Amino acid sequence: MYFQVLKETLVRHGFTFESETDTEVIPKLAKFVFDKANEEGDQTVTFSQVVLEVMRHLEGAYALIFKSRHYPNELIACKRGSPLLLGVKELNDDVCNGSAFHDAKFLSKNGNPKELFLSSDANAIIEHTKKVLVIEDGEVVHLKEGGVSILKFNNDKGRNGDSLSARPASVQRALSILEMEVEQINKGKYKHYMQKEIHEQPESLTTTMRGRLLRGGSCKAKTVLLGGLKDHLKTIRRSRRIVFIGCGTSYNAALAARPILEELSGVPVTMEIASDLLDRQGPIYREDTAVFVSQSGETADTLLALEYTLENGALCVGITNTVGSVIARNTHCGVHINAGCEIGVASTKAYTSQIVVMAMLALAIGGDTITKQERREAIIDGLFDLPNKIREVLKLDQEMKDLAKLLIAEQSLLVFGRGYNYATALEGALKVKEVALMHSEGILAGEMKHGPLALVDENLPIVVIATHDACFSKQQSVIQQLRARKGRLIVMCSKGDAASVCPGGGCRVIEVPQVEDCLQPVVNIVPFQLLAYHLTVLRGYNVDQPRNLAKSVTTQ
Ligand code: F6R
Repeated sequence: MYFQVLKETLVRHGFTFESETDTEVIPKLAKFVFDKANEEGDQTVTFSQVVLEVMRHLEGAYALIFKSRHYPNELIACKRGSPLLLGVKELNDDVCNGSAFHDAKFLSKNGNPKELFLSSDANAIIEHTKKVLVIEDGEVVHLKEGGVSILKFNNDKGRNGDSLSARPASVQRALSILEMEVEQINKGKYKHYMQKEIHEQPESLTTTMRGRLLRGGSCKAKTVLLGGLKDHLKTIRRSRRIVFIGCGTSYNAALAARPILEELSGVPVTMEIASDLLDRQGPIYREDTAVFVSQSGETADTLLALEYTLENGALCVGITNTVGSVIARNTHCGVHINAGCEIGVASTKAYTSQIVVMAMLALAIGGDTITKQERREAIIDGLFDLPNKIREVLKLDQEMKDLAKLLIAEQSLLVFGRGYNYATALEGALKVKEVALMHSEGILAGEMKHGPLALVDENLPIVVIATHDACFSKQQSVIQQLRARKGRLIVMCSKGDAASVCPGGGCRVIEVPQVEDCLQPVVNIVPFQLLAYHLTVLRGYNVDQPRNLAKSVTTQ
């Protein structure tokens, strides 16, 4: 039931609410169910009956843990749509053997006591154990007096909505082993996760490409191998179109990769923000390939768009950073970006790894046509060299800190980009907005005259991305027009281009290393990440946990 309806019902029964959150409805509903059972003389209502009755009324995605003073030695966890992991640590046993989860008592088969952990995120569990059970929709974990059982309910509500109370089956499943290390969740020498994740991009990109790019060897060919796609490449090549679907930063990464995918594959590529596709119930065809891009692999809107797309019969490809995530499991095939675990809420290293995976996807789909061979080889060489270029651009750290000092009190920032770097403008502005809490807007430079030009004056800071590619001369002309209106310009250009982007001086220039045009967004986003990071620290805001935001948006 929609939470407002539930809330109003509970208010009518005398409940008062302390917050506006939908979550508060859940414990109050549990109390209502418990009281009602007792009033009706059912003194024996069990904790699991109360929880099941609550679940029966809930709609949307959730992962919940219930604890009650009425059932002191019990705990119940359940989920729908959102992730939930049960970590199992066998005390006195460090051996991870992937054995079946042995329920009852907090003891494993060999008699060792068990410690259990419940979390929606592997990061919270990894320092205790690598053994986890991924809880599925409709499963209820019940801890009671030293025993644990997992029951499976059919929670597709029937017509009368009561199938949750159907007889449950006991679940027996092998434990999975988390493929991550505790070190990945330490900040190391850095003050914040975001800072660490920005600076580890040379390594994360190397890991993303490891084993997937081949150069040299006996045939001297330069090729890309994406194992997770090999059986589907023919189908993708024959698609009527490729549709990228994602939210936020993941959408921006797909936007950055769109031109190279179009160029190399020759297949039309369209873009969908997951929530918008759902709102419009936009057309998806059996002949489409839909590529779902998501760092967490658990974003509610993207998941629902995946369900919708599967129903419409398209081939679904997942690009995620989370092995075992719902998107990874429910797509037909896919590629893991292997960027390592990303903890800062603002996505940084996942973004650059997503672009690189999609560039490799373009190379894989493009095949080996002679006409494009030179271009393909240049991109592969560019990919090999990318970690070095990122090391180089990271040296701008102090320069971006100085720029942050200059912008600290500003209300607003505009970012103009086009072509490969339209996505950089959107993503750069998103980074500044979400962590530094400064209004910031990414604008397609080609749209400048159609409205945004009215904002230009000598006060509003504007970043223009004008690195060297096919759009360079158009961006030079944008800069001229902005200068003619006394715009306060910060220009991002390729190394050595300062004089040609800003003849006669008068703008602040950020020079970045030049790479193959389709990989330039990977380099160009780094100064924005650094700027957003420093602005946030200087403004005294929480870098890793920005106001009102969550790392995985598991609700609609
Ligand atoms: C911004 C950010 C978000 C996510 C978006 C989708 O820094 O992280 O915009 O990109 O919520 O999340 P995923 O990629 O997990 O689907």
